[in-house]
Amino acid sequence: MNAIEITGLYKQFSGKRMTKVDALKGFDLAIATGEVFGFLGPNGAGKSTTIKLVMGLLRPTSGSAQIMGMDAGQAKSRRHVGYLPENPAFYEYLSAEEYISFVGSQFKMDAALISRRSEEVLKRLDLWEARKRPMRGYSKGMVQRVGLAQTLVHDPDVYILDEPMSGLDPIGRALVKDIILDLKTRGKSVFFSTHITDDVEKVCDRVGVIVKGSLVALDRVENILRNGVEGYVIHLQLPEAVSRSFAGIDMVRRVNSVSEFYVPCSAFNAFMGEVNSSAINVVLVETKRRDLEDFFLSLVRSDLES
Ligand SMILES: Nc1ncnc2c1ncn2[C@@H]1O[C@H](COP(=O)(O)OP(=O)(O)O)[C@@H](O)[C@H]1O
Ligand SMILES: [Mg+2]
Repeated sequence: MNAIEITGLYKQFSGKRMTKVDALKGFDLAIATGEVFGFLGPNGAGKSTTIKLVMGLLRPTSGSAQIMGMDAGQAKSRRHVGYLPENPAFYEYLSAEEYISFVGSQFKMDAALISRRSEEVLKRLDLWEARKRPMRGYSKGMVQRVGLAQTLVHDPDVYILDEPMSGLDPIGRALVKDIILDLKTRGKSVFFSTHITDDVEKVCDRVGVIVKGSLVALDRVENILRNGVEGYVIHLQLPEAVSRSFAGIDMVRRVNSVSEFYVPCSAFNAFMGEVNSSAINVVLVETKRRDLEDFFLSLVRSDLES
């Protein structure tokens, strides 16, 4: 059984003055149990709409979504889910501790378990010191961390997180990545959205890229990275300070006695063949790849051009 299954999900909003917005243009997506999935896309791409449909907070125009085999919208489909909405807002007169206990009671946990789990998650999210203060005095990052704490308290199997790293400083972002990796080692399923490519690079098994309501790419992170190899920077120990070329490729620069060449993938074999037959020392071969950021931007651009 898949943790999340999306089939032909299509959502049209009615905008101002009878305009229609196709926020989602009908796509399929399945997230396996135990998978960490990054849902990447620029602002307005349809990430939050997808998440709200999966949570049953919006109704699709057509298509469907399921969590653990149960239709979105059924209360029982949400029982095993931790959900972080975008821009979470809480009863600000409550303290983090009171709020987390309230969430625990909503999931029918007993008092002893609530107190144990609430201590665990408040400490994990660095909210322990502030736990008794009303949330109205919390910073944006603290509110975001309360949002994450309330997804963890009932120890669900599936996590649906809308921009979990947003509003956090680098330490907070690293903490969230750590938590996601922890969930992964415990066999949990995580579906999270982000518009920042760095967020997905270290934590995700797979990435889906959504642009203007369509899923434009779906692959394992490492495949995306491997496909992104463009060429190599090859550092050679050349005997004299003269510029040389191999297979028609000229030196880019020289630092001390080492010369650097930029060699596209297609020229690699020819270049190395000439280098080897000249008995020249190779000091270093660096891989030049398109990073995820470039990958993402190229998808956005190709979509805008079409
Ligand atoms: N309630 C709504 N009414 C009308 N249009 C909406 C509504 N919610 C979202 N949209 C539109 O749907 C598109 C996708 O929005 P959203 O899912 O929030 O994007 P993302 O989360 O990727 O930034 C946008 O064009 C947005 O303006
Ligand atoms: Mg959003």
